Amino acid sequence: MSFQIKSFEAYQEAYKKSVEQPEEFWGEIADNFFWKRKWTNVLNWNFSEPNIKWFEGGKLNITENCLDRHIYLNGDKPAIIWEPNDPNEAHRILSYKQLLQKVEQFATVLKNNNIRKGDRVCIYLPMVPELVIAVLACARIGAIHSVVFGGFSAQSIADRINDAECKLVITADGGFRGKKVLELKTIVDDALMQCKSVEKVIVLTRSRTPISMLKGRDVWWEDEIKKVETQGNPACPAEEMDAEDVLFILYTSGSTGKPKGVVHTTAGYMVYTGYTFANTFQYQPGEVYFCTADIGWITGHSYIVYGPLSQGATSLMFEGIPTFPDAGRYWDIVDKYKVNILYTAPTAIRSLMAFGDEYIDNKDLSSLRVLGSVGEPINQEAWEWYHNKVGKGKCPIADTWWQTENGGHLITPIAGISPEIPGYAMLPLPGVQPALMDESGAEIQGNDVSGNLCIKFPWPGMLRTTWGDHERCKQTYFSTYENMYFTGDGCYRSPEGYYRITGRVDDVLNVSGHRIGTAEVENAINMHADVVESAIVGYPHPVKGQGIYAYVIANHHIDAEKTRQDILQTVQRIIGAIAKPDIIQFVQDLPKTRSGKIMRRILRKIAEGELNNLGDTSTLQDPTVVEAIIKGAEEFQ
Ligand code: WTA
Repeated sequence: MSFQIKSFEAYQEAYKKSVEQPEEFWGEIADNFFWKRKWTNVLNWNFSEPNIKWFEGGKLNITENCLDRHIYLNGDKPAIIWEPNDPNEAHRILSYKQLLQKVEQFATVLKNNNIRKGDRVCIYLPMVPELVIAVLACARIGAIHSVVFGGFSAQSIADRINDAECKLVITADGGFRGKKVLELKTIVDDALMQCKSVEKVIVLTRSRTPISMLKGRDVWWEDEIKKVETQGNPACPAEEMDAEDVLFILYTSGSTGKPKGVVHTTAGYMVYTGYTFANTFQYQPGEVYFCTADIGWITGHSYIVYGPLSQGATSLMFEGIPTFPDAGRYWDIVDKYKVNILYTAPTAIRSLMAFGDEYIDNKDLSSLRVLGSVGEPINQEAWEWYHNKVGKGKCPIADTWWQTENGGHLITPIAGISPEIPGYAMLPLPGVQPALMDESGAEIQGNDVSGNLCIKFPWPGMLRTTWGDHERCKQTYFSTYENMYFTGDGCYRSPEGYYRITGRVDDVLNVSGHRIGTAEVENAINMHADVVESAIVGYPHPVKGQGIYAYVIANHHIDAEKTRQDILQTVQRIIGAIAKPDIIQFVQDLPKTRSGKIMRRILRKIAEGELNNLGDTSTLQDPTVVEAIIKGAEEFQ
């Protein structure tokens, strides 16, 4: 890990070089990886189309970097430690050698099932080692994985499968989460009624939930592995990939329409996740690193699978939830495996705080050296608790700000090396050039200023396009400000030049660290037969960060309580439980401008309880609407 920054002076030097000589800077970092053929050109870019190419001409396979290259010296080192949902079930450890063997085996299964380079594979699995194996097996043969989080509904899966035209789905009979069993295969069966492109489904045995297996389409993971064993376990050499070949698609919510498929390509993503993993957390050989995310989100892709494994780290994955069997579960895991680095989300911290200190006070957390936070702004109280109770006041906290589209951390303290302030993401990593923009589209210079956060120069881990719709990528990220990548976040830069993320400036919510589009939830609610129209806004929620507040115009004859339940059920079926509104207020009308646009600003203020501060309502079609809504909202304050 020769690109690890070891001092603040080294950070400043690296930062300077990354701006003045970006190609040399990234070329030297990329030299730390294994290439089948070296690149001819480090960077070729414009943000107007956009067209971004890193390490052009380079040939490689990311799994050789995550697996094969560690075998010679570190083959017996644990790559994955797996802690099951039920603490009484045996845990599993896969060494690098074993993981490679299993990845080759399953890659052969994929080939036996007619999957080739460039084919899309949907993965809908619980947090078990086979999820990592499936992801890497796709990458091994150049198939493009599209992992769908296990909490999404059949409809969401169908939308994602159809958008990417996946040929194959990998799932399990069911998955365990706390006391619940998720009926994954049954949900996939429902989804596939709408999907023409899927030829095969590979089903892993996990929960032994009764399921139906469709002849000719569905096969068991275990049977397919046996077939490969009968073939004599042939080696599965890594497919030679071009630097810019697509590695995966991951769907994420935006402010409009359906979730879009963010496309990450091979070399840039590999270099960026490895570089950020090694630097942000200052990973040292032999350490145990535990990221509590689900691989269904970008954090899991970059910081359970690719980043840690490319650096030869030991990555701990956990199948369950932080409150099962009790709210001390994370601390039990830290103690059991002597975890050195813990990377989790503010929502988990807040929820565990609320259970009280008795679940943490008697646990041995002395192995912890570095803490990380991700997914949403961390409030001061949660930061302090994380720092004092979890880190015992001695562990640096990396508050990592980044997005699905970014591939890896953009603004974050480097643990123990650069300064930190609670609630601040602090300084950009070398290679990242932030800019704050004002309403007129000009860059705001100087410090102690706020604006919309953009990035003005490419970094290797950035998205290249949105699947099947390049125009949408251009519109969403590259059109708001000329020659800038627009993040959708607001940001404050302190007098010292430190960055503090202030939250989304668009119609994207962040609920328990999950990104949810308001339009998506509205569309789901509007599917309900008794709903005429709806508007969704976020409001501050003590545990989730943001809660979902729904204003709904319903037909007159409804029974409010019953319809509320039905609406929740509808959202769960169309999107998934994570998008269920916390509050549903029935209203007669919504505040609209004369041109018919809903004034969300006003609805947001009402949801936040800021009634004295509604702003200008003079452009409303009918100002009395607002009074009625305020009156109705009293019930929820
Ligand atoms: C928010 C998650 C404040 C932000 C990796 C961003 C954060 C969105 C932080 C991306 C943080 C993420 N501080 N806000 N440390 N990290 N966010 O795509 O609004 O699921 O735009 O990626 O989460 O969410 P996504």
